[in-house]
Amino acid sequence: MPFVSNLDTLLLQLSARDNFTLGHACLGVNVFGGIGSGKTSGSGRSLSGAYLRAGFGGLVTAVKPGEVERWLRYAHEHGREKSIILFDENEGSTSSPTSWTARAWTASAR
Ligand SMILES: Nc1ncnc2c1ncn2[C@@H]1O[C@H](COP(=O)(O)OP(=O)(O)OP(=O)(O)O)[C@@H](O)[C@H]1O
Ligand SMILES: [Mg+2]
Repeated sequence: MPFVSNLDTLLLQLSARDNFTLGHACLGVNVFGGIGSGKTSGSGRSLSGAYLRAGFGGLVTAVKPGEVERWLRYAHEHGREKSIILFDENEGSTSSPTSWTARAWTASAR
């Protein structure tokens, strides 16, 4: 999967004067707001889409109903279906993110 690596790469044009670049993303983003104020459907949706299009990897933890479906939809919308590795209660305890990562590292070292 190709990914952007130039820190000046534009990920989102927030306004006529405000560019959000890969460098800004690497510094970290905090989103504050009251319950139901639009963090997920506004900034969360815009940022996750930009990150997926830019080839980011990441770990998303989900607890709210519909959250897994939301991320599967995002992956589909931005051409990242094949990047999804889903760990859930159906996968069993040996399929945690850490055990999957350990297996991937072991396989790549062979
Ligand atoms: N600008 C807006 N105008 C009207 N409705 C909005 C707007 N932004 C968000 N909503 C609606 O408000 C509801 C709550 O939004 P959202 O789930 O994004 O909030 P949140 O801040 O993530 O909430 P939570 O704190 O529960 O995670 C959703 O139904 C969403 O569609
Ligand atoms: Mg939310």
